[in-house]
Parts: sequence; structure tokens; C-alpha cells
Amino acid sequence: MSDIILGIESSCDDTSAAVISDGYLLSNVLASQDVHKAYGGVVPELASRAHQLNIVPVVSQAVDRAGIGLSDITAIAFTRGPGLLGSLLVGTSFAKGLSIALDRPLVEVNHLQGHILASFIKEYGKENRHPEFPYLCLLVSGGNSQIVRVDSPLEFEILGQTTDDAVGEAFDKCSKMMGLGYPGGPVVDRLAGQGDPFRFHFSKPHVPGYDYSFSGIKTSLLYFVRDRIAEEPDFMEKNKEDICASFQRTLIEILMDKLVKAAKDTGIRQIAIGGGVSANSGLRRAVTEEGKKRGWTTFLPEFKFTTDNAAMIAIAGYFHYLNGERTAIDVAPVSRIADFK
Ligand code: KG4
Repeated sequence: MSDIILGIESSCDDTSAAVISDGYLLSNVLASQDVHKAYGGVVPELASRAHQLNIVPVVSQAVDRAGIGLSDITAIAFTRGPGLLGSLLVGTSFAKGLSIALDRPLVEVNHLQGHILASFIKEYGKENRHPEFPYLCLLVSGGNSQIVRVDSPLEFEILGQTTDDAVGEAFDKCSKMMGLGYPGGPVVDRLAGQGDPFRFHFSKPHVPGYDYSFSGIKTSLLYFVRDRIAEEPDFMEKNKEDICASFQRTLIEILMDKLVKAAKDTGIRQIAIGGGVSANSGLRRAVTEEGKKRGWTTFLPEFKFTTDNAAMIAIAGYFHYLNGERTAIDVAPVSRIADFK
């Protein structure tokens, strides 16, 4: 008998459901929410409402595309947190309802561990490489920037993390400041590809250990743009490619400096990246090139597994399920990582 896990993800503004069977992905359905574009960022109340509209069709499609029936599901894995509370409540409540209706166990998943374990999703007809333990994962998203040591699918140690903003926020704020839209990462990435990364220089933070800070560089960009526009009103429009390329290069250097340090100090050469910002072409190139230079084995997630998705929740849930973990029906979602058990 196969272990068939239904994964449900609703931590922010993507409603997603996925089915995996013995670690192999059978389906991964995602409904993104365009409603936030007009506001330049995610509006929590609108996100929860959109999840409510999307959750039933998304789960139905995931089950249909997997070619299974609801009664074939072995366990239901869901994102318990961290994330937006109203959004998490929709996925959690739906998972609970389904668990009762089908009489199948619930397995809670920490969203960040989902990103970290995304390299273990297996797909039919693919190479399915995954890191050996222990490995380091650079987890970079709109809410987090961490270097995590992973000793097994269930053992994690955060070696360093941001002390203020996440790197994804720096990308998003840069885009917003320049009037390029939301989410900012993909636009900045695209424009950076057409610009000179060494034309402008932004100050880098001095933070001890493996921790990060991204609030200073955001402010540095704000003052830089403001001062240049005062001298030349169309400065931004004329130089947006070079600004994006220089800003992105600096963010990547900040990320890579600490990752290299952590790899050197721990002696770990299995290196993975995960989270929305792991889609960044400059970061992917930097990790690959640094890896070649330093003898790392590197793991870059496929683009579809970089943003929030339920396949990563299903694979993380699968490992917890195999470990015998079950979640009580009175579980409540948690918005902050600090509140996670
Ligand atoms: O992991 P994610 O989908 O959501 C959470 O934060 O949980 O990450 C979203 C973040 C946003 O800040 C977005 O701008 C960033 O990932 N992002 C990128 C790229 N694609 C998405 N940042 C840089 N380059 C990209 N290509």
C-alpha cells in the first residue's frame, strides 16, 4: 500500500494543494491572487477571502489530476505556520474538516521546513537528485532569510537569520520605490539582467556571525535615488537597469558572504537554496559558480518549487507521517515562527 499524502498550503497569498505518493509528486495545483497587485503588497483580509474561494476547487483539482479518489488519501498535511493568521486559518480549517470527513490523520507542517525539504520532492521521469545529510540550506523568501543546517528531514538548526527585513522584502521595496510593481523580485531580476551590476555601490551591513540585515541597504537605495533625482529628474527612468543590477548584486554578495562563511566553518559542502528568492537568476548563478570554485554539490529547486506550493508541504508532511507524528484536531495555526512548537 502506498502512502498518499494530500498537502495543503495557504500561508500567504497562494492557495495550493498537492498529492504525493511514496514521495513521488502526482499533482501540484496553485491559485495565485492577483487582487493584491493594485495595493503593492499582500492585503491580509483580501488574502483570506481569496483562499476561501479557492480552497475547494484547488483541492478537487489536485485530487483529480493525481488520478486518485479522496478515499485513497492516507494523511492530510497542512501548513500550520508561520504566515498570515487569517490565511492559515482557511487551510487549517479545511484540512481539519477533511480529516474528520475521511477519517484520516492530520499532519502539521512548518512552512519554512517545507521550503527547506523541497529538494526531496521526487517526480517521475526526472533525475531526482537530493542533498546528503548534513546540508546547508539558504532559505530566502519574502518573510525570511536564514542559513539552516539540516541533519535529517526532521532535524534543523538555524545557524543565522535576518535581524530585521527579509531579502525578499528588500527586492519588493526596491521595486516599489522605483514604481516597478509587485512582487518586485521578478521585475528587478529581469531588469538587472540588462544592466551593469558594478555601476553603483550600496553600503553593506556589518552583522556578526551568520546573521543578516537588509533594512540598511533599503534605506541606502532610498537616499541614493532621492538625491540623484533631485539633480536629474529622469535619473531613475534612464538608469533603472543599472540600479536594479547594482542593487541585486549587492544583495547577492551579502547572502553569499555568510553562506560561504557557514560552509567553511562547518565543513559542509552540500548546499541547497529555497524560498521565493531562490528563483533569482543572479543568486542561482552565484551559488553554482561559488559551488564549482569550492567543491560544493549544489541543489537549486525547480522554479515551480521556489514560490509557495503544496508539494513541499506534502513532502515535509510525508517525512513527519513516516516518523509517526499526528496532529490533534484542536490544533490552531500560528503566525510567528517563535510560537511554533
Ligand atoms: O517564498 P515566497 O513565495 O513567499 C514567502 O515569502 O513566503 O517568496 C516571495 C518573495 C517575494 O519577496 C518576491 O519578490 C521574491 O520572493 N521573488 C524573487 C524572485 N521571484 C520571487 N526575488 C528575487 N528574484 C526573483 N526572481
